Formats: sequence, C-alpha cells, structure tokens
Amino acid sequence: MSPFTLSRTLPADATAAALRADVADGLTRTPKQLPPKWFYDARGSELFERITRLPEYYPTRAEREILVDRATEIAAATGARTLVELGSGSSEKTRHLLRALPELRTYVPVDVSESALSLAGRALLAAHPELVVHALVADFLTGLTLPADTPGPRLVAFLGGTIGNLPPAERAGFLASVGALLAPGDALLLGTDLVKDEATLVAAYDDAQGVTADFNKNVLAVIDRELGADFDPADFDHVALWDAEREWIEMRLRARGDLAVKIPALDLAVPFAAGEEMRTEISAKFRREGVRAELTAAGLEPRRWWTDREGRFALSLAVRA
Ligand code: SAH
Ligand code: AVI
Repeated sequence: MSPFTLSRTLPADATAAALRADVADGLTRTPKQLPPKWFYDARGSELFERITRLPEYYPTRAEREILVDRATEIAAATGARTLVELGSGSSEKTRHLLRALPELRTYVPVDVSESALSLAGRALLAAHPELVVHALVADFLTGLTLPADTPGPRLVAFLGGTIGNLPPAERAGFLASVGALLAPGDALLLGTDLVKDEATLVAAYDDAQGVTADFNKNVLAVIDRELGADFDPADFDHVALWDAEREWIEMRLRARGDLAVKIPALDLAVPFAAGEEMRTEISAKFRREGVRAELTAAGLEPRRWWTDREGRFALSLAVRA
C-alpha cells in the first residue's frame, strides 16, 4: 500500500447536492441559518488556520498545551495502533500525539476539506515516513465507515472543540455513531472548550484583525461560486454573541440593508430585510458534568479528564462502555 492515499466516501456530486439542499432549506427558514461545514473550502481552511494563531483565539493553544503535557499518558492508556481523526484540518496539533504513540501504524484523517487533507498529508509523511496515512474526504455526520486496514486498538480523536459546532440533538446522534464505531479496547479523545467569562469568549470570535469576520463571510463566497449566487460579503456584518442560557457562542451575518439575493442553481431569490441576521455557526462551551453526561448517554465510559493550566479547555478520554 502507498504510504499516502486519499479517498472519498461520498462522490463529489453528493457534496454538491448536500450544499444545494442545505442552502435551499436554511435560506427559506425563519430565522435563516447555514451549517458551518460549508465554511471550509481551501480559503476557509486557510482562514481557520489564521484564526488559530490570533491572540484572542485561545482554544488551539490551550488544547496544544494539554496534548504536549499528556501525550505520553494518552499513549499509555490507549496503546493505539490506528489513529482516526475527525475534522482533522491541518493535523497540526495531532503531531504531538503521532510522536507519542509508539505502536501507531495508521493515521486516518477525516475532513470535508480536500485541500486541508492534501496539505496535511504531505507534511505528515515528510515527518513520519513509516506511517500509513489514509485520508478520507467525508462528512463525519453521515455514516462514517473506516478503511479496511485500521488495526486495533484504535483511537478516535475529535479535537479543537468542533463537537461544539453541532447542535445538542445532533451531538447526541453523532456521539452515539462514534460509540458504535469503537470496538472493545478502542477509545475516543474529545476536545471541548469550557464555559468562561463572556468577554474572553466573544473576543475569540470577534478578533481585532477581522479574520473571523472574513471566515464567517467565506460561506457566502462558497455559495456564490458553487451555486452562482450574487451574495456580496460587503452587504453583511459579522456578529458574534454569547447565549448565556444555552452556553454557546453564535456567529451570524447581519444584512446591512434590504437585499434580494439570487441563487440561480436553486432558481431562488432570497430576500433579506435590513438588520436581519442569519445564523452561520454555534460553538457550544462545556462543563465537566455535561461532557460526562453526553459521553455516558452515547454508551461511552469517561476515563480521564485533563485541562490546560488556566482551565480554559478540556480533553476527555472515553472507552466503549
Ligand atoms: N481539528 C483541527 C481543525 C478544526 S476546524 C483543529 O483542532 O485545529 C474544523 C474542521 O472540521 C475543519 O477542517 C472542517 O473542514 C472540518 N469539518 C467541519 N464539519 C465537518 C463535517 N461535517 N465532516 C467532516 N469534516 C468537517
Ligand atoms: C472548528 N471550531 C471548533 C471553531 C470554533 O471555535 O467553534 C470554528 C471557529 N469559528 C469561529 N472561529 C473558529
């Protein structure tokens, strides 16, 4: 087997059909909404990488700190021979795990962003020529199946706090499907951003340089390119707010004036009233007891809980109950 393969579990036309369905559904609802996975074309993935280096965006640094400090413990607790990473992006933090897992043979990064997977795959093979890297262009929400050659024990990593981008009901179904993927002896390593003061949270999603605003508006560029729409990003303001009741950050795009956006591929004209807001992402923040309850409800047994020194972010290790 070649040390690097990239395959799709969904054909490209299924991805295009999913985008059409999500846009048709989300832009005809009240209030309007779009799922966050459409941020991540090549430009969106690059903007996310820039976000991870912003002074205000602490989650990446906090999670990296935990991985550096705990990689040896994670290796000892799992003995993983296969690492499957969901929403792997650049796989940048994952290097700390890859280095620490002495038995590791196979790495399976899974992402909707083919550009991110290709870039990450090349960099990883340069650093780990002994590793078989089987990248999967796939939606981790819709029937994830693993390639044949993934020897156990397997460690499934879901880092970055991306679990928080799923609404609670979807999270429950997703965690149950991850649980079903695990065999006895396999484990899940889950990154969750933690509830903290509103000012810190809002700044992380509304940075001074406007990189998060560009990332948010990138979904409009994706819809323009893929569906021939005439969204102008300059017609929208970036909004980030903290919903204290539901304990999540919400990103929205607010129309600056009355608009009528045409989407020829859907034969649709979408009106926006001045000030109307469209939800583009939630980013839920967690507490220890909530993470424990959600893992347990999915048939997983939480074994370890680590945070960074400032207590901003947590990594949980769970096994199939
Ligand atoms: N794990 C990395 C990247 C987080 S960004 C980190 O911690 O820094 C979120 C990643 O998840 C992006 O690379 C995005 O393309 C991917 N993603 C988002 N929704 C997805 C979905 N439904 N299926 C697969 N990948 C998804
Ligand atoms: C990928 N995900 C965990 C990021 C987050 O923090 O919710 C995406 C992001 N959105 C705005 N900034 C970063």
